[in-house]
Amino acid sequence: MSGASAVGGRRPVRVAVVGLGWAGRSIWLPRLREHPAFEVVALVDPDPRVRAEVAGRERAAAEAALTVLGRPEELSRGAVDLAVVAVPNHLHSRVAAGLLAAGIPVFVEKPVCLSVAEAEALAAAELAGGAVLLAGSAARLRADTRALYDLAGELGTIRHVDASWVRARGVPDAGGWFTRRELAGGGALVDLGWHLLDAVAPIVGAGEFIQAVGTISGDFVADAAWGASWRHPDAVGAAAGGNVEDTVRAFLVTGAGVSVTLRASWASHEPLDATVLRVEGSAGSAELRCTFGFSPNRRPVSSLSRTKDGATTQVDVTTEPIGAEYRRQLDELPVLLADPAQRGIAVAQARSTIAAIERIYQSAAPPAAA
Ligand SMILES: NC(=O)c1ccc[n+]([C@@H]2O[C@H](COP(=O)([O-])OP(=O)(O)OC[C@H]3O[C@@H](n4cnc5c(N)ncnc54)[C@H](O)[C@@H]3O)[C@@H](O)[C@H]2O)c1
Repeated sequence: MSGASAVGGRRPVRVAVVGLGWAGRSIWLPRLREHPAFEVVALVDPDPRVRAEVAGRERAAAEAALTVLGRPEELSRGAVDLAVVAVPNHLHSRVAAGLLAAGIPVFVEKPVCLSVAEAEALAAAELAGGAVLLAGSAARLRADTRALYDLAGELGTIRHVDASWVRARGVPDAGGWFTRRELAGGGALVDLGWHLLDAVAPIVGAGEFIQAVGTISGDFVADAAWGASWRHPDAVGAAAGGNVEDTVRAFLVTGAGVSVTLRASWASHEPLDATVLRVEGSAGSAELRCTFGFSPNRRPVSSLSRTKDGATTQVDVTTEPIGAEYRRQLDELPVLLADPAQRGIAVAQARSTIAAIERIYQSAAPPAAA
C-alpha cells in the first residue's frame, strides 16, 4: 500500500481485505502493503477489537485513506477493485457470493466452498454481478512445485500422483472454528487436502474425479499438545477439542484414468512437517520432497528427483524463503483480474475439488476420537 504506484501503465488495484484474522494479518496485509501493484483501501471485520488493532497499524503505514467497516455488504463497487476474502470457512461462499453479486471481484481463500451447492451459488453470483471470482492454492506457484510440473511434462503418459502433506504437530486452533465441522466444513481434508488437490490439478488435469473414496481419523485433534505453534504461540495448549478429522487417506481417479492417492494430516508421529508429491508416468517418475505452508518445523531444503530405468538422479531445485509463493500469487492477480477469460475458471476448479471432497467424506467413517 505505502509503495503503491502505477505498474505497467495500470493504476494500483484498490483492495479490501475482508477478514482480519491470522491469514488476513499474517499472509495478505503485509504482502499487499509492500506490493506496488496494490493499494489497500478498506479493512472489514465484524470484531471491533480486531478492527481497531489492525486499522491502527495499517493507518500508520497508509498513504491513501483507509475505510474500516464491520460488514462486507458495506463495501461499494466503485471504491474497490478486488476483495481478498479470508473469513472462517463456513462464510466463504456467502461472503464471496454477496460481493460478486454486487459486482466486486473477489479472491477467496481456500477452501473456496464447502459443498457443490455452494460452488453453484458462486457461479450464479459471478454471472449475476459480472465480476470475476479468483482462487487457488499458492502451492502451485512455489519454485519447487513448478520444477516438478516441468519434470512431469517429460514423464510420458501420467498414470498416478501420490500427494501427501503430513505435519508432526499442526492442528490449527484446536477448540476454535477450525476444528468445528459446522464452521470449518471438515478438518485436514478441507484444509491441507484442498491445497494438495489444487497442486496436483496441473498434473492430472482440471476435470472432475469420477471416483473418490477414503478414510478419516481423529487421533490428535482433541489434545491441545498437537496444536500449530506458529499461529498463536501464546495459546498453544490452552484449548482442545473439535469434531473434525486430523487425518485423511484417500484414493481418487480422474475421468482420464489417472489415479491420485491423497494423505493429509494435521498431526502425526513424524519428526517434521513434510509434503511429498510423487508423479508416475509411462516414461519414469519424479518426486518432490518439501514442506508446504508456514510451519517452522519443516524440511530445511526441497529435493527433487527423477527415476528412469532403475536410476534415480537429483534435479536442481530452489528452496525459497517461507511464503514466497504468496507474493507470487499477488504478482498474478492484476493480470488475472484484467483477463475476461478468467470468468468461470476458479469456480469450475472449486466445484471439481469440493465434489471430490464430498465423496471422500461420504465414503469415510466418522473420526475415531471425535
Ligand atoms: N492459504 C493459506 O495458506 C491459508 C493459511 C491460513 C488460513 N487460510 C484460510 O484463511 C481463512 C481465514 O483463516 P484464519 O486463520 O485467518 O482465521 P481467523 O479465525 O484467524 O480469522 C478470521 C477472521 O474473519 C473475521 N470474520 C468473521 N466473519 C466475518 C465477516 N462476515 N466479514 C469479515 N470478517 C469476518 C473474524 O472476526 C476473524 O477476524 C480460512 O478460510 C483459512 O482456511 C489460508
